[in-house]
Parts: sequence; C-alpha cells; structure tokens
Amino acid sequence: MATDRLLMCRPRFYGVAYVINPWMEGNVGRTDADVAMQQWERLTAELARRAALDYVEPVDGLPDMPFAANAGLVHDHTFVPARFRFPQRQPESRHFTSWFRDRGYRVVSLPSGGTFEGEGDALFQPGAPLVWGGYGVRTSLQAHRDLADILDVEVIPLRLVDERFYHLDTCFCPLPGGRIVYYPDAFDHDSLETIRARVPAERRCEVDATDALNFACNAVVAGGAFITNFSSPALRERLARWEFEVIVCPLTQFILAGGAAKCLVLHLTHPGAQRPAATPRAVSGVRERLVEVQGDLLDTGLMNTFLDCITEGGGSFEIETFQAGLRHDQASLARVRVVAPSPERLEAILTRLVQMGARVAEEDRDARLEAVTQPGVAPRDFYSTTIYPTEVRVRGEWVRVTGQRMDAVVVIDGPPEAPRASCRLLRALVVGDRVVSGIEGVRIHPTHVPVAGETFGFMTADTSSERRVELAVDRIAWEMRRLRDRAGKIVVVGGPVVIHTGGGPHLARLVRHGYVQALLAGNGLAAHDIEQALFGTSLGVDLKRGINVRGGHRNHLYAINLMRESGGIRQAVERGILREGVLYECVANRVAFVLAGSIRDDGPLPETIMDLLAAQEAYARAIEGADMILMLSSMLHAIGVGNMTPAGVRLIYVDISPAVVTKLADRGSVESTGIVTDVGLFLNLLDARLGALE
Ligand code: ARG
Repeated sequence: MATDRLLMCRPRFYGVAYVINPWMEGNVGRTDADVAMQQWERLTAELARRAALDYVEPVDGLPDMPFAANAGLVHDHTFVPARFRFPQRQPESRHFTSWFRDRGYRVVSLPSGGTFEGEGDALFQPGAPLVWGGYGVRTSLQAHRDLADILDVEVIPLRLVDERFYHLDTCFCPLPGGRIVYYPDAFDHDSLETIRARVPAERRCEVDATDALNFACNAVVAGGAFITNFSSPALRERLARWEFEVIVCPLTQFILAGGAAKCLVLHLTHPGAQRPAATPRAVSGVRERLVEVQGDLLDTGLMNTFLDCITEGGGSFEIETFQAGLRHDQASLARVRVVAPSPERLEAILTRLVQMGARVAEEDRDARLEAVTQPGVAPRDFYSTTIYPTEVRVRGEWVRVTGQRMDAVVVIDGPPEAPRASCRLLRALVVGDRVVSGIEGVRIHPTHVPVAGETFGFMTADTSSERRVELAVDRIAWEMRRLRDRAGKIVVVGGPVVIHTGGGPHLARLVRHGYVQALLAGNGLAAHDIEQALFGTSLGVDLKRGINVRGGHRNHLYAINLMRESGGIRQAVERGILREGVLYECVANRVAFVLAGSIRDDGPLPETIMDLLAAQEAYARAIEGADMILMLSSMLHAIGVGNMTPAGVRLIYVDISPAVVTKLADRGSVESTGIVTDVGLFLNLLDARLGALE
C-alpha cells in the first residue's frame, strides 16, 4: 500500500488573534505557544511513523497557517488554492501557492467567484475518485461544481448547518473501505439522506455530541491508525471492530482556534483516487439555472425572501444583474443564477421561486404534460397551484389558467388549436387528463408575495390599540358601502363566536341592509343564531344579561329540533316560527347561505351539508365572483375559503387570537387585512359605521 504524503506547517507563529469561528470566541491571546508546539510535535511524530511529511514555512502574522488543510485541495499533481472567506486568512494563499508552484504542481484557481477552504471542506473518500464537499458556512456550493470539473472526480455536496462545525472535516471523516465517521446533527436533512443513500448502514459510524464537540471526527487516517484529539470508548470500540487503531493526541491548544488533528494536515496524495482511463468524465451533482424576477423587489422585501428561499432550500446563488428601481413607482429586475447540490433540489427550489413570481430563463419551452393513470391521482411531479394569476405554455402559446385557486392541479384540454388550462382538484382528476408537471413553461403573476413572518399593520405592537381597529373598520365600512352601491358581492364566513360574542344582531342588520350576498358557516353559527332568536340564549347563555340560564345548554338542541320539525330553516321562516336573527334575514332577503357540517355537529340542521366534498363544492360556488370576503372568527372555514379564492379578492380576517390572524393573513396578498379583536365588538363597530353612512 502506497504511503500518504502530508503537508504540515510548524505552529511557530500560531495563536488566536481574531475571531472567525465560534471556538475562537473569548480565546484571543489565550494560547500557550510552548504547549501548542509540544502538542503539534507529538502529532507530527505519530504521523511520521505512518506517512511521508512535507513542511511549508510558517509566516509571521498568519496565526492560522498551521491549519494546512485549508490551503487548498491537491490531486494528481494539481493544486487548487483556497479562496478564504475571511480576509484574515486570505494572505495565506500566496505562501501556500508558491510552495506548490516551486515544486512543479499545476496550479488551477477556481473559475467562479465563490469561496473555498480547501481540504477542510473537500474530503476524498480513500481509494475512490470521490470527494465529499462541505458547503454553507465557509465554502460555497459553486466551488464543488468547479472542483469536479478541474479534478475529474465526483463531488457530493453536503450542507453544514451548525456554525460550530463550520468545515466538513470537523464533523465528517472518510475511512478506507468505503466507511465514514460523522456527526449527523451538523448536516441538513437532505444531506443526511444523501450520506445514508451513498454509504450503507454497516459502513457508517455516527458519533454523539461529546465526540463531535471534542473534535473526534477531525482525525487523520494513516497506516491503519485513526489519529485524533479525543475518542469516547464507544467510538474506540467501533473503530477497533473495523480494525483501526485509535491514537489520541491531545490538541487542546488548537481547539482554542477551532481546529484539531485533521485541520493541521493537507494530503498531497490520494492513492486510488484516479479515475480509470476511458471512463466518462466525472460530474458533480451540482446543477444551476438562471431565473428572473421583476417587481418591487426592494420595498416589499421580496428580494430577501427570494434569496432566503434559495439558501434555505440548500442552494446558493449568484446575482448576474440587478437593476434597482430607483423611484418608489419603479420596478426592479434581477437575474439570478440558482445553484443547487442536486437536480432534485434544484427543481424543488425553482418550484418555490416560480410560485413567488420568478421565471426560469430559457422560457421557450412548453409546459411538460403527463397523463393521469389512476382516477383522483396526479402524476407525482405535478405542478401545484397558487392563488395568483397563472399562465401555462402550450404549443408555443401562453394560455391563462382559469378557476385559479390554491393547491390544485392544472389540466390542459380543448382542441389542439385552442387549448384550455384550468385548475382541478386532485379528487376530480380522471384517467387520461393531461396535467402540467414540473415548473417548465409555467409563469405566475403575483400581486404581492407572502413574506415569511411578515407582520401586518394591525398585528404589530399596536395590535390592541382600539384606535387602529376603529380606523380599519372605518375603511372596511367605506369599501362595503361602495361595493353595495355598485352591486358588488360580499361574502361572510363566520364561526359560532359571532353569536356568542353578541355579534348576531349586527350581522343580521348587515344582511338586511344588503351588505351580505352570501353567508358561509357551519351548523354551529346557524344553530346558536336560531337558539338566540327563539330562546334569547347562545349555547345556554343569556346574551342580554350575560348569565347562564338553567338547563339552557339544551336550548340549541330544541332550536335544531324545531327546524327539523319544520322541514328546514326556510320553512320555519315561512311558517312564522323563526322571526329574527342572521338566518332569518338571509331567508327573508334571499341571501344565499351554505352550512358546511363537521364531526361535532348536533342535529344537524336540515340545511347543513354533512357530505364534506359537497360542502366544499357549495362553498366554491358561493364565492365565485366575490369582491370581498369577511372571515369572522372561524379558522378552519377561513382557511378553506382562502384556498379557493384567487388573488385579487379583498379578504378581511377578524379573530381575537393573533396567531390565527397571522396564519390566515400569511397568504399576504395586498388585498388582505388582518384585525385582532373581539368579533362581537368588530361587528358592533362595523354596524354603527355603516349606519352612519346610510
Ligand atoms: N481558526 C481557523 C479558522 O477558523 C481554524 C481552521 C480549522 N481548519 C479546519 N480544517 N477545520 O479558519
């Protein structure tokens, strides 16, 4: 077996002089030069027995230079120099590069602008033309794409998500025989899946936090030994079973700077890493695509959300052009190269970006269509819709999608010369339907993209300020008045709390005065409204006096029973049994109402639709053409309705719970307003304002 050649740098000028990783915090000036030198000598002695060592001259003023692993990556007499993330270490490159140049190495710099911290983030799997590439903290993903090209090796990018494990070699150690030792918590979910897909369980050794935090993974593997700062008995035993001798060399002085054994060493050789001649060139999984986004990127914060979405998806980006809108009314334009560690993750990131309104450049492709083969089941890769206006490219033409709603599938039908695109629910798919798959040939026109964690006007610090609520209600009353004047459509979605909080009479008056064109609710709102009309209680509470009426909790059942006896609410009104309340006004004023049932419903009322699919459909029909939807304290119904409603409809959410309002208003269309207040008070105020406008 060929011995390894390693490059090291004597820690003559070593120390902690600045802080560029969490380990260095609090350690500036705290290292002991003599102890550090002894620890390094001891490590060197162990290594010298198992490998050939070369040395690079240390430089005064470059205290991190002993961490030779970060100099770059060497393979087959090619040296790819690091491009350090922090300026403090950047001057090291010149010295390392001269060393390699003087010895006849081919020096190839990374073509792209990303950062790269050498073998610290690029570990060869011993004996294979394979490199594990860490990214996300110090090294950029782009570097791994370039490494595969330059060195003709396969590179598997792994994303690091814990700042304490900022280089791959702090939490991952490949061993001969296709084995690895690693600390799972340092990686993101997808990277762990990648590791587990590539290395079978019996070849993976997962260490715990104690080992990891003592740099057990930061080991040099040479001549059958695993040379490390620390090893728990469990790790030692595991490695013994794999026939590795564990040699512990304390390197506490170097841990003060965030490094240990492996960091102090750069491999000059990688036996067995050459790819056999005549095999196709190696590729990295890294993929990229150019996307364009246009709009109020700066003032709405969309640009941030957009870039966050790329990094959170495990990708990286290069902004190719950015034209800032210099005035308030000017849109900005950005062209961004999205880089992802695998084709699958690129697709996942692009899907989210497209849903935010980005366009994949090279738009000259038609949407990909796949046929449904199982009723009610979409092809796996189907495009799922948003609330925003969407177009799909079919035979070279952009076709506007109809019936826009969220979480649906786009089906293409119609004659070839006049294709139609429409939103379809999963359950409505039939065999042979042609469904848009992937994101190619899809573009959407968001009015305003939800920004994660966005706070709305009424939910910020002054949520509870009465004055803010009053102002909001003024505005809503004015809009409702205008809608009524032009025969617009206002839909109310309400929960039973509307009645419990005393909002019933106010809502009834809104219906009577023509401010409501459809009422969507559950069995509860109707039952308690009728209970109140007949017995003066809501869930047994006398709303006028605010006290429990003895036995009153049964009142709603008597109310339901009476409606059942009459054959329905409508009939009860016609017979003069029901003479006031919200439902009474609906019947009397021919305002459509839909009652959607649920598991806890008593009765139910004859009108309550207990078939949920039918109820969903009735809701969808009722909101067609709505201009405004008032959602009053009914989280589930409001979410349901929100999903069916395309962007552009004015949505008002009222709930006493800020969490619910946040959740609902999260769709974030400009036309949605969240108000945190008691719904009874809200209706009272709204009723008064509308009265004042009469
Ligand atoms: N202080 C150095 C830095 O933060 C430590 C480098 C450790 N090297 C390594 N390969 N993990 O850059």
